[in-house]
Amino acid sequence: MRTLIKGGTVVTCAETFKADVVVEGERIDAIGAAFSGHFDKTIDATGKYLMPGALDVHTHLDMPFGGSSSSDDFETGTRAALWGGTTTVVDFAIQAKGQALRQGLDNWHAKAQGKACSDYSFHLICTDLPENVIGEMDKVVDEGVTSFKLFMAYPGVLMVDDSTIYRALLQARENGALVCMHAENGGAIDVMIKQAVAAGKTEPKWHALTRPPQMEAEATHRALAMAEVAGVPLYIVHLSAAEAMQEVRRARDRGVKAYAETCPQYLFLSYDNYLEPGFAGAKYVMSPPLRPKGNEEHLWKALALGDLQAVSTDHCPFNMSGQKELGKESFAKIPNGAPGIETRLLLLYNGGVNTGLISLNRFVELVSTNPARMFGLYPKKGTILPGADADILIWDPKKQVTISAATHHMRVDYNPYEGWKVVGAPATVLLRGKVMLENGTFTGKAGDGRFVKRYRPEFKSP
Ligand code: URP
Ligand code: ZN
Ligand code: ZN
Repeated sequence: MRTLIKGGTVVTCAETFKADVVVEGERIDAIGAAFSGHFDKTIDATGKYLMPGALDVHTHLDMPFGGSSSSDDFETGTRAALWGGTTTVVDFAIQAKGQALRQGLDNWHAKAQGKACSDYSFHLICTDLPENVIGEMDKVVDEGVTSFKLFMAYPGVLMVDDSTIYRALLQARENGALVCMHAENGGAIDVMIKQAVAAGKTEPKWHALTRPPQMEAEATHRALAMAEVAGVPLYIVHLSAAEAMQEVRRARDRGVKAYAETCPQYLFLSYDNYLEPGFAGAKYVMSPPLRPKGNEEHLWKALALGDLQAVSTDHCPFNMSGQKELGKESFAKIPNGAPGIETRLLLLYNGGVNTGLISLNRFVELVSTNPARMFGLYPKKGTILPGADADILIWDPKKQVTISAATHHMRVDYNPYEGWKVVGAPATVLLRGKVMLENGTFTGKAGDGRFVKRYRPEFKSP
């Protein structure tokens, strides 16, 4: 299959130039002009941008959590991802306590295989690393799962103690993996939650009030200090608070390879959302919580100046009906997480590029190139280059979209951005040369997505 994409403007993290692109089979074959010969398909991209397909390196598909399971599985979640311009997701597989790491990984392969529409890879969440298990991390890395996530929050469920964290960091120093950290002080937060519930403070806003930013900053500092002593890089996931951002900057200033991502919800929503009438605040119950207005300004600056490396989603959807409502009597029982796999690019382009807060090239870097670099997928993914996978996002900068649960493709009964009007959206999406989305029609299918082994990340850049 030979495809010509003509008349568009190629946008990478570094350059913007007019060019035609030839796709041969699953790869980009050539970038230039005046190509001749036979093409099986020609796509007119006049007036549009050709960007590398986006990577979402923080998703929770089909994840058991908080007495429920996230409502998107690998089929519905990755289909929605493609609708939004994301061609690869890196999902979090989970090692249950007492389980071998292998088992956790096998479970996630079974969830994804034959179902995923987009390409996919896994990080592995480790919840239990006794001496006879920790060495398995090396095998997992050899199989292309080159990053792990540890939790400093959710005691009794996912949280691990500092000695486990430190031992895992040392193991990562040996095997070259990248450790990702959920940085919130779970012990102190647990006390605050119990006190609030005992005092009858049970509305959704108490979720945020029992997880103050100092607890994110403290854990961020502690995690980075441990990484510093262990001599390894660390990637802080879903960074939400200005105080935590400051800890990342301070660590970098002392020479720690400290990296971090944020998510659209921390850029576009705020604590005020918890005050929506009735139980509507439950839509935004996620950890870390939404922060008071003003935090987002620090995050935007960090995105523009390079202190944050990526924008991921932390997509972890739960329906209001039957799932979030488990916490009607107490915020502590509301499943944590919110949907976003489909809306990441729409929001960041409209709120970042259209407003001039970030450049078009930086947009590509944040949603595609850096995630690919940080997680060992570059230059197979994350750029437009001969030889790279032909994951191409043809972006219409003029397309207007009204975000709504009535029209989105995520399997969840609400959208946190209901009614928001944005300008700029995917027109056509190719996954390894195959057209997955065109003229408002999804042309891919379950099983089109493939597991992608990742290299050990190299930390020369970004
Ligand atoms: O509330 C969230 N973020 N749910 C998903 C699990 C996690 O902490 O990433
Ligand atoms: Zn987390
Ligand atoms: Zn998460």
